[in-house]
Formats: sequence, C-alpha cells, structure tokens
Amino acid sequence: MKLQFPRIAGLALAALLTMGTGSAFAAGAEHYPIKEPKHVDWSFSGPMGTWDLGQLQRGYKVYAEVCAACHSIDLVAFRNLGELGFSEAQVKAIAAEFEVEDGPNSDGEMFDRTAVPADKIPGPYANSQEAAVANNGAVPPDFSLLAKARAPERGFPNFVFDIFTMYAENGPDYIYSLLTGYEEAPEGREIPEGTHYNPYFIAGPALAMASPLSDGIVSYDDGSPETLDQYSKDVSAFMMWAAEPSLDERKSLGFRVMIFLLIFSVLLYLTKKKVFQSLKK
Ligand code: HEC
Repeated sequence: MKLQFPRIAGLALAALLTMGTGSAFAAGAEHYPIKEPKHVDWSFSGPMGTWDLGQLQRGYKVYAEVCAACHSIDLVAFRNLGELGFSEAQVKAIAAEFEVEDGPNSDGEMFDRTAVPADKIPGPYANSQEAAVANNGAVPPDFSLLAKARAPERGFPNFVFDIFTMYAENGPDYIYSLLTGYEEAPEGREIPEGTHYNPYFIAGPALAMASPLSDGIVSYDDGSPETLDQYSKDVSAFMMWAAEPSLDERKSLGFRVMIFLLIFSVLLYLTKKKVFQSLKK
C-alpha cells in the first residue's frame, strides 16, 4: 500500500487548526479568561533578563502597604528581602515592625515577640477559615508561588513561538492584567453578588477581590509614577521574584553555559581535525 503523503499532511494540518480554535481564547463559549493577558516588557524576560531592584523594592512596598492586609507570603523570610537591595539595617527595621508567635517558654506557653530577619513574614490571618470569614467566603491565595501558579494557556500557535522567544512571563503578565483590568460588567452579564467583573480573571467573569489599587495610594521615594499601572507592574515583578528568587542567576549561568558549549564545540572540531589529519591521503 502506498503512503498518501498529501493526505496525511492535510489531516495533520486540520488537527493543528482545530487545536488553534479550541484554545482558551476562542470567542463565544464559556472560556476564561475572557481577555488574553496584556504583555509587559519585563526587565527579567528573555535569556539575559535580570531583576530591576528598584522595581522589586517598590513592589514590596505595594505588597506591604496594600496586599498584605489580605494576602500572606509564607515562604519568604525578612532576610530574603536583602536580595532586593535592602541593607541589613533596613531589613532589621522592616522585621521589627512585626510581631510573631514564638515558644513555648519554660512554662510551656507560647508568647509573642518582635520579629527578627530570620522569621518568615507573618500573614494577616491565623488560618484559612479566618481568611474566608473575613473575605466573604473566598480565601485570598498565598503570594509565595502565585506568579508561577497562574499561567493562562497561550493556545496554538503562541505556545510554539514561546519556545523560541523564551516567553515565560505568563504569571506576572496575568497578575498585571488582572490588577489593571477591572471594569464595569457589560450589559446583560450577571455576576454573583459580592464579586467584581474582571475579563482577565482566569476562573470566571468575576472574582471576590475588589480592585485593590488606584492612583496615588502608595508613595514612592524614587520618583517613579504613583499610578495604578506602575503599582501593578511593580507588585507583579515582586511576586515573580518571590516565586523564583534565583531567576537572574539561572539566566546568567545558562548564558555562560551556552557560550562555553560553543567554544567547546569549536575546540572539539579542531581537535578532531588534528587527530585524523595523518589518515587523510
Ligand atoms: C481586601 C482583601 C484583599 C486585598 C487588600 C487584596 N486582595 Fe487579592 N484577593 C483577595 C481575595 C478574597 C481573593 C480571592 C478571589 C477569588 O478567588 O474570587 C484574591 C485573589 C487575588 C489573586 C488571584 C486571582 C486568581 O487568579 O485566582 C491575585 C493575583 C491577587 N489577589 C493579587 C492581589 C494584589 C497584587 C494585591 C495588592 C495590590 C491584592 N490582591 C490585595 C483579597 C484581597
């Protein structure tokens, strides 16, 4: 039996096209997010990406002054903030503003004391039940890994191009889009009571969190604009750092390894030529 190449190619193409239209962003059906995340030009994107420490410090400030009222960041200790460029004294001062539970003491009792840099940043609630009660039944997710946990599907053909552009910023792009994406629900769209319409939300048309940011609510001392847009970028970058603090080391090591492999291949090729030179007649 002869292989019918054009037929097989046609079938493969058809399969790929159906994958495309079946992607998360197809029009009409109940697919979320309703809108594809916006793209931000992050300092940490691409093979040579690095953190913008000023941005991470501002992001921490937005987190501490706004988001920390509801969201914990359990895996980050105060001393980790040193990586954002805060001095040791600054980290100590930040920690000293918090109380943590310690113990038991010699009487077997737990007690509160001022936090030190070695402590994890304490969250706003004692447990998720308390968090749910305070937030209308919805638990604000912990920030430690959220920037990695939220990655809307990119659909065909984007996910193919992503391999070449090394796009891996779906998380911070998603968070930025969500924070800047609140709008009035369109006519005729019913949303559950106590929720807020946001076409960028990954799990439905509306979420339990009201827009937490607006222009001017956090003051910056480095002259950066005090706008919703800037706050959203900064806090998303900070959350990406929390989720992958060693991203910049990984990228710079990866880059050096590629250069090394390149030089190594040239050397191997030259060695091979030299070794087999005498056999060439
Ligand atoms: C008043 C409490 C409150 C504050 C303040 C708050 N959030 Fe939330 N947040 C919530 C709640 C509740 C949810 C869960 C929403 C849901 O699942 O419907 C949530 C969910 C989220 C999510 C997850 C959305 C998803 O895809 O599931 C992100 C991201 C987020 N918040 C970011 C932030 C940022 C950044 C800040 C600070 C600028 C902030 N939040 C401030 C209560 C809050």
